[in-house]
Amino acid sequence: MDLLLNDKKIMVTGGSKGIGLACAKVLAAEGADIIISSRSRENLEAAARQIGSQKGKLHIFPADVSRMEEIDALAEFVKKRFGYLDGLVINSGGPPMGSALGHTDEDWMSAVNSLLMPVIRLTRYFVPEMQARKFGRIISISSTGVKQPIQGLVLSNSIRQAVGAYLKTLSVEVAGSNVFVNSLLPGATDTDRLSSLLENVAKDTGKSVDEIVELRKKSIPAGKFGEPANLAALAAFLLSEKNGYITGQSIAVDGGMVLFPF
Ligand SMILES: NC(=O)c1ccc[n+]([C@@H]2O[C@H](COP(=O)([O-])OP(=O)(O)OC[C@H]3O[C@@H](n4cnc5c(N)ncnc54)[C@H](OP(=O)(O)O)[C@@H]3O)[C@@H](O)[C@H]2O)c1
Repeated sequence: MDLLLNDKKIMVTGGSKGIGLACAKVLAAEGADIIISSRSRENLEAAARQIGSQKGKLHIFPADVSRMEEIDALAEFVKKRFGYLDGLVINSGGPPMGSALGHTDEDWMSAVNSLLMPVIRLTRYFVPEMQARKFGRIISISSTGVKQPIQGLVLSNSIRQAVGAYLKTLSVEVAGSNVFVNSLLPGATDTDRLSSLLENVAKDTGKSVDEIVELRKKSIPAGKFGEPANLAALAAFLLSEKNGYITGQSIAVDGGMVLFPF
């Protein structure tokens, strides 16, 4: 199926590694014009080499999306390069592990700034133009923790609920302008983030990383970890015009791990 993404203008934040990078790769393969952003220029340059997009179709811009002034600069860059966006993938790193009572106010505010505020600020920048142009597709990368809290990830479980509530509210307000907003909920997906979480669990439990990996895989009906490309394929569809009627949804890509009702 041709997703009709050729020459569409799409930005992926947190686009230098893992799930964000996989999204950028599939969008590049579909012919989209892409901006990828993350904190490190070095990571972005390495990602650009991997994506290997046609000349002039891939741009990089370093920005920490937890900082308002860096989002301002990123929005300015988008305006200069593309003028507008057809699609936006909102992604960033996950917050640190910890128990419900184990975080300081600073930890909580930092999680709000890295998970919630970028979604509010980026949509506030780009959605009005999408509404005016009568086309826009937004994806937020969240977590299955919004359906079933993940032990030891209280910051992610809690703040992502607020992100989901914000995006659901937004999706209702803008669907009439053909601007669709969805969240993807990765389960255990094979990236640097998953490796570092599993290493922490191994340390806390005194088990080896291999044992923790086997235990985690056994808890997943599909019996394996997901690949970032599994999420990216769905993201590409949801970002395209072929997605003519799906909005306001949180879709788990988790090998059947979370047991919430259909
Ligand atoms: N992998 C999983 O199993 C899993 C499961 C559930 C949820 N998730 C969530 O899905 C998202 C992506 O996960 P991933 O596994 O792909 O993570 P990852 O491998 O750690 O990649 C994170 C990406 O975000 C960028 N980034 C981090 N903090 C940023 C910031 N403040 N501003 C801009 N860019 C930032 C990183 O690049 P720089 O370092 O250059 O900034 C990198 O490109 C995360 O929120 C994660 O918590 C992942």
